[in-house]
Amino acid sequence: MRRILVIGATSGIGRALVEAARARGYEAVAAGRREALLREIGGETLALDVTAPDALARIGAVGADTVVFNAGFGERSERPDWGLTERTLRLNVLAFERVAGWALTHCETFAATASVAGVRGLERTNGYSASKAYMLNAMEGYRRLARHGGHACRYVSLVPGFVDTAMGQASAFWRCSTTAAAFCILKALERGQAVAYVTPRWRWVAAALRLMPRALFERLPLG
Ligand SMILES: NC(=O)c1ccc[n+]([C@@H]2O[C@H](COP(=O)([O-])OP(=O)(O)OC[C@H]3O[C@@H](n4cnc5c(N)ncnc54)[C@H](OP(=O)(O)O)[C@@H]3O)[C@@H](O)[C@H]2O)c1
Repeated sequence: MRRILVIGATSGIGRALVEAARARGYEAVAAGRREALLREIGGETLALDVTAPDALARIGAVGADTVVFNAGFGERSERPDWGLTERTLRLNVLAFERVAGWALTHCETFAATASVAGVRGLERTNGYSASKAYMLNAMEGYRRLARHGGHACRYVSLVPGFVDTAMGQASAFWRCSTTAAAFCILKALERGQAVAYVTPRWRWVAAALRLMPRALFERLPLG
């Protein structure tokens, strides 16, 4: 890894990742829509709406060997809300899928920030958790495609629990700082790890959720 592009780096985990990567001596390019925040971050930046038709051309022009798809959207809702779901899927599924497929033949490493919320369906963040489930499965599929199709790109699934950002305020349980999250992610990228829980102890929550019998899981209020 020499040059890393972080898509979704104007705030939260992505911003901390750019700062951590630069501190470690990597060339790190911060991308996102909010140009005032990009100016505040400084260094090399890219004004980018990853859902826009020209996104791939703009990403390709950066010439990064490592691309991290960290952009994400999700909000809680008490009832089905098509507008919210559509916005979530457009970013977390469609834009992600487009960049992930492109990466197969254009990157050494492609990482995507999924979520422990993607392991099972959740009642008030249903569209978000379903979009992250898509991402987890698609990343696994791309790892298989790279291996069996003879492609060199490494696909790294990043799986945070709760991180201390605007999005991570739903619970204080095992919530880590953005600095700790960035440290885990950087380590995973350097190692070319297939799946990295952020922080590592969230692997046990994910495993418990996966193994929990449906009858018990459906009785459990989770959010
Ligand atoms: N915080 C948590 O507890 C937690 C837990 C599990 C997973 N995650 C995942 O971690 C990732 C980062 O979340 P965060 O908590 O750090 O939230 P955040 O501060 O809201 O960061 C989201 C980033 O995505 C960017 N973004 C949104 N729409 C975009 C678009 N169309 N094009 C380009 N960039 C776009 C935002 O930048 P602009 O608005 O400037 O475009 C922002 O930099 C997300 O994928 C989230 O689902 C977070």
